[in-house]
Amino acid sequence: MEETPRALFVPVILGTVRQGRMSLPVARHMVAELARRPGVETELIDIARVPLRTDDAGQATKDPTFSSRMERADALVVVSPEYNHGYSGLLKHVLDSCLKEYIHKAVGVVGVSAGPFGGTRGIQDLLPVLRELGLVTIFWDVNFSSVQTVFDESGRLHEQAYLPRIEKFLRELLWMAKTLRHGREHVALE
Ligand SMILES: Cc1cc2nc3c(=O)[nH]c(=O)nc-3n(C[C@H](O)[C@H](O)[C@H](O)COP(=O)(O)O)c2cc1C
Repeated sequence: MEETPRALFVPVILGTVRQGRMSLPVARHMVAELARRPGVETELIDIARVPLRTDDAGQATKDPTFSSRMERADALVVVSPEYNHGYSGLLKHVLDSCLKEYIHKAVGVVGVSAGPFGGTRGIQDLLPVLRELGLVTIFWDVNFSSVQTVFDESGRLHEQAYLPRIEKFLRELLWMAKTLRHGREHVALE
């Protein structure tokens, strides 16, 4: 009898602590999209709830719960709002707290901005950081521009044009997650 393959674990990291953050409905929507896919488990990781000290940096600040989530993850979705044409400093502080947990795992970025560019400038700066952490970036992003107009008051996505973009992004991310898991488990680094 064939064993049922283990579910892929793909948490969504909400990359801001800002009060009133619009990245929250975006992250919740990505969690819902992942959760309805067979063979995928997900979870929202809110960086505001990762208890990291700010008087140190890097792996010295590691939080055991965040670290174990990263260890278990096969891929990450990072929801990254654009702040002054960059990414959130606290997002980087949290990401920097782990290293070996990320190696040879897939990552996709969802940019969020109030302006028209959907967080692209922040994404461009975040990509080399993710690469340096050992993550493998995919070639699609999702860009939520004018995010304040995209969700209704109850936090539901009413701009349907995002759905096919999210579908394309997640298909690629899950393919990369499966491929890299196969590689981690079966292909030796010689
Ligand atoms: C410090 C700061 C800088 C920002 N800079 C930009 C920016 O460069 N471009 C932009 O489109 N929006 C900018 N915004 C607005 C955010 O894109 C907006 O808050 C958006 O809703 C996404 O982030 P949120 O999750 O914080 O809501 C900035 C917001 C803050 C708090």
